[in-house]
Formats: sequence, structure tokens, C-alpha cells
Amino acid sequence: MKILPIILFLFVIDLYFYLGTISTIRTFVNNSIYPVFYWLISALIYAAMLYVFLNYEKRTPSIRFNDSIVYSSLVFIVFIAKFIGILPLIIDDVIRIFKYLTSFFSNSNQQSDLGRLNFLKNSALIISGTLFSTLLYGMIWGRYNFKKNYQEIFIRDWPLGLDNYKIIHISDLHLGGFNNVGKLEEAIEMINSESPDLVVFTGDLVNNYYDEAVPYIDALKKIKSKDGKLSILGNHDYADYTGMKRDSAEWKTNFRKLLKLEKEVGFDLLLNESRVVSNKKKMFNIVGVENWGAGRFNKDGDLDIAMRGVDDSIPTILLSHDPSHFREVVSKSDYKIDLQLSGHTHGMQFGVEIPGFKWSPVKYRYKEWAGLYEHEGKQIYVNRGLGHLGYAGRVGIMPDISVLNIKAKI
Ligand SMILES: [Fe+2]
Ligand SMILES: [Fe+2]
Repeated sequence: MKILPIILFLFVIDLYFYLGTISTIRTFVNNSIYPVFYWLISALIYAAMLYVFLNYEKRTPSIRFNDSIVYSSLVFIVFIAKFIGILPLIIDDVIRIFKYLTSFFSNSNQQSDLGRLNFLKNSALIISGTLFSTLLYGMIWGRYNFKKNYQEIFIRDWPLGLDNYKIIHISDLHLGGFNNVGKLEEAIEMINSESPDLVVFTGDLVNNYYDEAVPYIDALKKIKSKDGKLSILGNHDYADYTGMKRDSAEWKTNFRKLLKLEKEVGFDLLLNESRVVSNKKKMFNIVGVENWGAGRFNKDGDLDIAMRGVDDSIPTILLSHDPSHFREVVSKSDYKIDLQLSGHTHGMQFGVEIPGFKWSPVKYRYKEWAGLYEHEGKQIYVNRGLGHLGYAGRVGIMPDISVLNIKAKI
């Protein structure tokens, strides 16, 4: 069973953290309740993991209209806090081993002090406590804390009659774990209050199965815009993570129903194709590719097919879920693409974003991960995602409703 080595690994972290910090804890709580409490929580977590593993049915559609993502996130934040928290204890142990070896080989009669350093023990507790409370805070206050991000984007030859054209860009709803129709309606009210000219959705509607989106159909229908609602697919919309084979009847049914659902809610889904958006004879192209991601991600996106017949005398905006497509394909191509709109990174749902400064660990994986960038004379804007995946919360990088104001570059 694959789960046993994982539980053993978590137990080792648990034990290491416990032994490294118990003496400090005893200075605050000098009775036997703490060890019982500590190990009871751990035992419950291991039992829950074993239960979920034994009862998990991969082929059951993941309509997680319950709070399982909250429980798994709680387990995740308990262990990530301990895992990062043991780093000072590991440093401490390396120092102690070094001290022991030095005293052993120096033939000195003087005994070295091999006790743990208080500073490092305290650091372990402070780091774990801070990380745990921050991640818990992100679940309670960050998960649905929708934020409008306003961005001016200048495009050469943008029709003057379309100056201040307002595009609402949303992405990564991941409805399988969204778990709240009312909260999605709240986000949609925020979108509609902007009276957008165009709404674009750049993929990852679901985590795996089309029926995760069924409870949200009526809400999604309420998104309003003057010139339409366009969408594309993200890597999660292909059910590739379920183990279903693409040529199986089950996969085809799921995929067909997802495409039908996109249409039903009013999205014009672009599958390697383009549209001309026209407003009082002022026009621009919107091109949408299927998902194309660098590395292990699926590469159904085909820019060459999508760009066929596209009139390059008017500006072109490309919708492509994964921003790595921009670096690897779009910016290297000769196509006249003025702006790419992407999502996918979620800003890792963790980081810092204040005026003039933004940071997230995801920046080491994706060069373009949140906001506007320019490379090789082409621009890309990356949305931070409206939903969440894995961790049911957000710290620093909030659920994103991007309000893009497109202007002519003089
Ligand atoms: Fe996503
Ligand atoms: Fe994605």
C-alpha cells in the first residue's frame, strides 16, 4: 500500500518535531495533557488518511460539494508547518554532531555541551506556529476574498473608437472544490458591476469532471457583457488526472458534456480557433487555443491552426491557459499577437502582493505568473485565478477578477 510509507514519513516528522520541542513546551504547559493532545491529533490524521485511501474510488465523479477539501487542507497545513518547523532542529542536530565529533577526535577531557540550542528550539516553534496560523487565516479569510485587479494595457494600432475597452478576465474556477454557489454569485455581481465590454475565461473550469460545474450553471449564466463571453480550456478540463484514457467512451462522454455545459452557460469556447470582435465597425481578433503547457502538461493547443485565416491588419488578443506557452511558442513565433491572456499559476495561492512589489514561490517555476509582462515585443497578462486547488485558501495572492482597460498605444 502506497499510503503506509507516506504515513511513516509523516510520523518521523511528527516524532522529530515533538522530541525537538517538548522541553520548550514543558516550560509553558507542565502537565501530561500536551503529549496526549499532540499524539491524539496526529493519530486522528493518520486514521483519516488511511480511511480516505481505502475508500477512495477514482472513477467516481469528484462532485465534492462537501468540505473534504477543507479537511485535506487542514491536514496539509499541520504537516507543512511541522515540516518547515523542523529545519532549525535539523541545523541544531548538525551542529551537535559536529560538536560531538570535534570533542571525540580532539582527545580533550573537557565534555562539550551537546544540549539543543534554545534559540533554534524556539525558532522551530515560532516558524511552525506562524506558518500554521497564516495558512489557517488564509483558509478563513483568503479563500473567497475576491479582489479586482485593475490594469491598463496599451496596444499598438488599437482602434481609437475602442479606447478604454473593458475586458474582464477571469480564470481557474476549479469548481470541484469551490463549494459555494453564493460566493460565485458574489464574484459574478462584482464582474457585472463593471459593465464589461467583453468577458474572457482562460480555463480550468473544473478539477476533472464536467459535473463539478453543474451546480453553478445558473450562476455562470448571469455573467453579462456587451460583446460576449469567450472561454478556452485549461489542463484540468481534459480529465487527464482521473486515469481515464482519451479514447475511452467514458472520457469522450465527459469531454462532450463539458463542451456542452460551456455553451449552455453562454461561453463561446474557442478550441484552436478565432473570432472577430466587432463594435461599431471597430474590430479586433480574439484567438483561443486549447491547453498547451511546457513539460509534462498536455499540448492540445495548436497556434498554427488557431491563427489560420486571422486578419493581421487588426489587433489580436490570444487566450491560452498556460503562460509557459508564451515563452516557448508565442513570443518566438512570427504571428502578430499583441497580447496573450493566461491563468494557470494561481499565484500559488501564496505570496506577497503590495503596490510595487510582488513575490510568490511560483515565480521560480513561471517567469510570467501574475499581472502584465512584455517579452520579445509581445505582452502577456496572467490572471491569479478565481478559485483554488489543493489548499482551500489564499495568503497574499487573492482570488482575482482582472479588469483590463485596453488603450491605443500612440
Ligand atoms: Fe488552475
Ligand atoms: Fe491549469
